[in-house]
Amino acid sequence: MTSLLVRHIGELVTNDPTQGDGSALGLLTDAAFVVEAGRVAWVGPSGAAPASDAVQDVGGRAVIPGFVDSHSHLVFAGDRSAEFAARMAGTAYSAGGIRTTVAATRAATDEQLTAHVARHVAEMRRQGTTTVEIKSGYGLTVRDEARSLAIARGFTDETTFLGAHVVPEEHADDPDGYVRLVTGPMLAAAAEHARWIDAFCETGAFDADQARAVLEAGRAAGLAGRLHANQLGHGPGVQLACDLELVAVDHCTYLDDRDVAALGDAGTIATLLPGVEFSTRSPYPDARRLLDAGVVVALASDCNPGSSYTSSMPLCMALAVREMRMTPAEALWAATRGGARALARDDVGLLTPGARAHYAVLDAPSYLHLAYRPGVPLVTGVHPAWADPVSR
Ligand code: NIG
Ligand code: FE
Repeated sequence: MTSLLVRHIGELVTNDPTQGDGSALGLLTDAAFVVEAGRVAWVGPSGAAPASDAVQDVGGRAVIPGFVDSHSHLVFAGDRSAEFAARMAGTAYSAGGIRTTVAATRAATDEQLTAHVARHVAEMRRQGTTTVEIKSGYGLTVRDEARSLAIARGFTDETTFLGAHVVPEEHADDPDGYVRLVTGPMLAAAAEHARWIDAFCETGAFDADQARAVLEAGRAAGLAGRLHANQLGHGPGVQLACDLELVAVDHCTYLDDRDVAALGDAGTIATLLPGVEFSTRSPYPDARRLLDAGVVVALASDCNPGSSYTSSMPLCMALAVREMRMTPAEALWAATRGGARALARDDVGLLTPGARAHYAVLDAPSYLHLAYRPGVPLVTGVHPAWADPVSR
């Protein structure tokens, strides 16, 4: 078996508290690790590294686990930059904009959609992301949801059926009929391509009863639930996610004390998406309040053409630190191990023996530079190589 020694790492983030400084990041300095068969086989001080078949000398740079982006909507067509410009001139964001992308996505060929996802996945990888979750949700017919998920599956195992993204125009006068379509024939066609099921529980999208029906039908079909909730205002979604003991509930911008307590009690992860607040010019979620209450927080890009058209996890970290009162260490953990936890994955988001050797090399001496130097492309390389499908 061929082994690779990665050495001369100025600062190594393992996310294993039993390593190095014993913090949540498990930080080692002057470190090395060995990769065998795609997994980490050994971690320790550079000077104690075992012999190997090949060597990658990173010249004192920092190495982090690859980002785990647990929330994205990459299967879409069309452009909504004019909607962004209008927002920056004062128009409010609303869930209805999703329908613009639905029309463009339905009109696109499989080849166009596949090429579009490939371009965005490559863009993510260049910025250090090695695992990405991809949702459907811009097809909203049986055929278009199933093909969106089949395309996403070509890039990641972490695919999510989001037929309950918004009620499409042709069902506007019968939302409950649309929910029956989602929980019936659409779910039946989507299930084989998806691991997760999601719904947008928000004014202008789906109410709590509708979202519950979707998540329960998904569970019966073998899909695990996650939820978009409390993005545009306070609503029942976070409580629903906790009642159903979902792995993660995403957005969590508007929370009351009961929501924060419920998240802590249920152990449901709050995935915060600061690209949304940046791109919709909205108040940021209060990460500090969640962390201080013991809630597990993940960070993700929510890359989508409407509310957050960024694929950059370093940008999300910088916003979380500057605007949401997370420490740089908390933000890095949330963007790596936190994202993995939000996808119920134990094999990614950490660099410890047995884990997948998914890592990013930074052109910086410390992970701190990710937030300290916002907007600077610090990721000089990721492993596995650029062309590999994300998360395999
Ligand atoms: O996560 N919140 C719902 N869905 C996306 C926005 C989709 C859109 O505007 O196209 C989100 O923000
Ligand atoms: Fe989203």
